Amino acid sequence: PGLPSLAQSQAAWFPVGTIGYTGGLSGVQGDLVTKHFNSLVAENEMKWSALQAQPGVFTWANADAQVAFAKARGMKLRGHTLVWHEQVPAWVFQDASGQPLTPSPAAKALVLQREVEHITAVLNHFAPHVGSFYAWDVANEVIDPAQPDCMRRSNWYLLTGTDFIDTAFRTARALLPAHVKLYYNDYSTTDVPKLACLHKLVAGMKARGVPIDGIGHQMHISLGYPTPVVVGHMVRSLASAFPGISQQVTEMDIKISDNGPFYATYEDIPPAVHAQLGYAWRNYFNTFRQLGGLIDSVTIWGQADNHTWLSSGSRAEAPLLFDTALKAKPAYWGIVDPS
Ligand code: XIL
Repeated sequence: PGLPSLAQSQAAWFPVGTIGYTGGLSGVQGDLVTKHFNSLVAENEMKWSALQAQPGVFTWANADAQVAFAKARGMKLRGHTLVWHEQVPAWVFQDASGQPLTPSPAAKALVLQREVEHITAVLNHFAPHVGSFYAWDVANEVIDPAQPDCMRRSNWYLLTGTDFIDTAFRTARALLPAHVKLYYNDYSTTDVPKLACLHKLVAGMKARGVPIDGIGHQMHISLGYPTPVVVGHMVRSLASAFPGISQQVTEMDIKISDNGPFYATYEDIPPAVHAQLGYAWRNYFNTFRQLGGLIDSVTIWGQADNHTWLSSGSRAEAPLLFDTALKAKPAYWGIVDPS
């Protein structure tokens, strides 16, 4: 109470989103989402394994709860994610007797058919609410810059080549109205080899007439790396290579460090580090705003440090804007009051 709304503070530039997760949309956590964010993405509830764990058996309740929460508050929705090598059940890549498929024309046809059926079922299910959606992550993390062709050796790739990407975007485009933009989403997009691969991937898709509207930069980053200047260069390089392409920050959080100071518990993280994180959030958001519309949405991968995918393991992190007691941190103030 009394705090300015984070999303309202950025309303002149872009919507500010966060994740919804099952159990995290009620009570004070739900109030935090309602007050400070105007865009929502399901943390896990719209992934393949959440929606179709068994062939042809769909489970919608948790995803529907996310949509209902957003709609009741007039929040926009990002869909996440139709095709990914993680959180996809093993059966997708198995034959009728449960054996792993091996590459063949028949295996490729079967996997692509399953992909089309899944995407069709998902998008038909959410069709009554499509007016609330503005973006959908169609393909997630298909790049591996260590491979000569830039493609991650996922089951998708091993069984279909790059066709699973084109098929996903074409299927989604045929089912979604034009206001729902279609994204390729990935992490570490500032890394030089990865960015080169991203350029190559999008250029190839464009050359093949694949309907991609945008690039999602996950922005799971660390204190000090990549610098805001490097982020700005990355965004501008893609904007100039692909005029009119949308770019969004889709999953931002900031780790203290992969190899720097180690704090075993949350309480060990000193105020000076919270302040450093605050300056970092301020500087990134200054950059996002200065990019003048090239970044058209920013989503933060959580609300408060009480729920973050980075908290597993022995290293304490403080990657979000509110603390474990849901109090605003310097990270919040760095965005809302960057002066
Ligand atoms: C993460 C969730 O936050 C975790 O709860 C889950 O266990 C694994 O997935 N890139 C993505 C997100 O695109 O979907 C991931 O979310 C984080 C990395």
